Amino acid sequence: MTESAPVDPTTTDAWKNLAAIADGFSPDLRGWFADDALRAERYTFQAADLTVDLSKGLVTEEILANLLQLAKDVDVSGRYAAMIAGQHINVTEDRAVLHTALRRPKDGEGLVPPKGFIVDGQDIDADVHATLDKVYAFADKVRSGEWTGVTGKRIETVVNIGIGGSDLGPVMVYEALKPYVQAGIEARFVSNIDPNDVYEKTAGLDPETTLFIVASKTFGTLETLTNARLAREWLWAELSAVGVLEDTDEARKGAVAKHFVAVSTALDKVEAFGIDPENAFGFWDWVGGRYSVDSAIGTSVVIAIGPDNWREFLAGFHAVDEHMRTAALHENVPVLMGLLNVWYTNFLGAQSHAVLPYAQYLHRFAAYLQQLTMESNGKSVRWDGSPVTSDTGEIFWGEPGTNGQHAFYQLIHQGTRLIPADFIAVANPAHPLKDATGDGAGVEPGQDVHTLFMANFFAQTKALAFGKTADEVRAEGTKESVVPAREFAGNKPTTSILAPALTPSVVGQLIALYEHIVFVEGTVWGIDSFDQWGVELGKQLALQITPAVAGDAAALESQDSSSKSLIAKYLELRK
Ligand code: F6P
Repeated sequence: MTESAPVDPTTTDAWKNLAAIADGFSPDLRGWFADDALRAERYTFQAADLTVDLSKGLVTEEILANLLQLAKDVDVSGRYAAMIAGQHINVTEDRAVLHTALRRPKDGEGLVPPKGFIVDGQDIDADVHATLDKVYAFADKVRSGEWTGVTGKRIETVVNIGIGGSDLGPVMVYEALKPYVQAGIEARFVSNIDPNDVYEKTAGLDPETTLFIVASKTFGTLETLTNARLAREWLWAELSAVGVLEDTDEARKGAVAKHFVAVSTALDKVEAFGIDPENAFGFWDWVGGRYSVDSAIGTSVVIAIGPDNWREFLAGFHAVDEHMRTAALHENVPVLMGLLNVWYTNFLGAQSHAVLPYAQYLHRFAAYLQQLTMESNGKSVRWDGSPVTSDTGEIFWGEPGTNGQHAFYQLIHQGTRLIPADFIAVANPAHPLKDATGDGAGVEPGQDVHTLFMANFFAQTKALAFGKTADEVRAEGTKESVVPAREFAGNKPTTSILAPALTPSVVGQLIALYEHIVFVEGTVWGIDSFDQWGVELGKQLALQITPAVAGDAAALESQDSSSKSLIAKYLELRK
C-alpha cells in the first residue's frame, strides 16, 4: 500500500454544506431558467468534440462551489497526476493504473509525464507502441488478405472470445463503429460459458475463413478458456468435415497457428494453449480489464476498422485525457459530471443512473459502462481497508433512445425515484435517410429522419426538466379526475452530450469521459476503483460446486440445504 489514508469526504466543510443544502432541497428548474438568462451558457462546457450541457441538472452556483471545494479537499487533481505518472494507486493489487498511457501519441510533444517515462523499470511508451505496431501489422495482413487460413483463403470473420473487459469494450466499439468496418470482414463476439453462445456465434461460419482471437488478460478465465477449447474443437471438426484437415497432431497444430491468435498479459499460458507466441499480442498488469478496450484487447476491432481509424480512436481518448489533466476544475467536464453524480447519489438519494444514447450504433454503450462503473466503484471499503463513510457506486443502466421512451421512461418521468440521466447524441448520422412519403400528419414528405430522432432527444430532456403543471393539463380540457395522472413534476436531472458525428475519435472521447467520471467519484469516496475482488467468491464457488452439479452424491450432500435441493431438482430435470 503506497497511498496514505483517504480524506474522509464527510468530514469536510464542503460535504456538510452540501448536506445542509440537500436538507429540504426543492429544485426549481423552471424558476432557475426564468431567473437566469445565462444558465444554459453558464453550465455548458466543451471537452474535445463533446459539448456537454449540465444546465438541466439540479445544480446551482452554491452547490457547484461546494462540489468543487470537495474535489479540492480530496485532491482529485493530485490523484489524477499520480495515476498518469504510474504511482501504484491500485493499492490492493499494488499496481500502477496506466490506461491513459495506452493512447499517448507516438511522437507527441509536451506529454505529461514526458515521453519515455519509466514505471517499475518499464519504458511504458516504447512497449505500448511496439505492441500497437505489431497489432497494426497483423491487422493489415488480415485486411489485405496476406494472412490466410490454413487452406489459403482470406479471413472473412473474426471471432473474439473473451468476457468482461475482454468482450464488452470490443463489442461495444465494433457496434459503435460499424460504418467504418471494412466490407468483407465481420466480427462476432463469444463471451458466455452458456454453450449456446459459442454454438450460435460459430453457426454458419466457414472454418477456412474464420479467425479466432482469444482475449483474456489473465488467460485463466474459465469462460474464455472453455470457449476457446470449444472453438478449437469446432475448427478441427469443421475443417475435417470439408476434407481439408489431416488426422494428425501436426495438421491440427498447423490449423490452430493460422486460425487462432491471442491477446493477454500471460503469454506463457497462451503458448501452453497451443497458440504461437508470434501470434500473441501482449499488454500489462497496469491495464485493468475494464480499462483495456484501447489496448491489444481491441485487436478484433483494429482488424475490422483498420489501423488509421484505430489511431483516430486513440487520439479521441487522448484529447479527453488532456482535457482532464489541464482544464480548470470549474470547466473540467469529467470532474463536473463526476461531482454531480456524487451530489445526486450522496445527497439527493439517487441510486441509479440512466445512460440514454440517441444513437443506435451505441446500443451496447450502457452494457459497457455497467462494467466500467460498477466493477470500479461498487466497493464498501476504502483504499486503506477502512469502511467507506458514504454510499458508493451507482447502478448504471440504459438503452438507446427512442426505444427506451416506449419502455421505461415512464418511471423516470413520473415515478417516485430520482434517476439522473445522460442523454448522448450526434448531429450527423452515418446514414441520413429521408422519409419520402411522410404521413400527412406532421411528418412531411422528404422529412429528414435524423431530425425527427433528435426532436425526441430535445423533447425528452425538456419534459424531464420542466414537466407539465396541473394548470397546463387542465388548459388542455382534461377532466379533473385525470389531471393528477397527467401532471409531470419536472426537475428530473439530465446531462446532454452532443458530438458532431459518431467518429472513431468521438467514441474514444466518450469512453475516456466516463473512465474519468468513475475516477472522480472513486476519489471522492476514497476507494480503489481499479480492483475487483468482489467477483472472486462466485468464481471459486462455481468450481467447488461443479462436482455436485455433475451428479456427485457426496459433493451434493455437502451443500447448504437450499443449494442442495435446487441442484437435486436440476438433476431431476436434466435429461
Ligand atoms: O471477473 C471479472 C474480471 O476479472 C474482469 O475484471 C475482467 O474484465 C474479466 O474478468 C475477464 O478477465 P480476463 O480478461 O482475465 O479473462
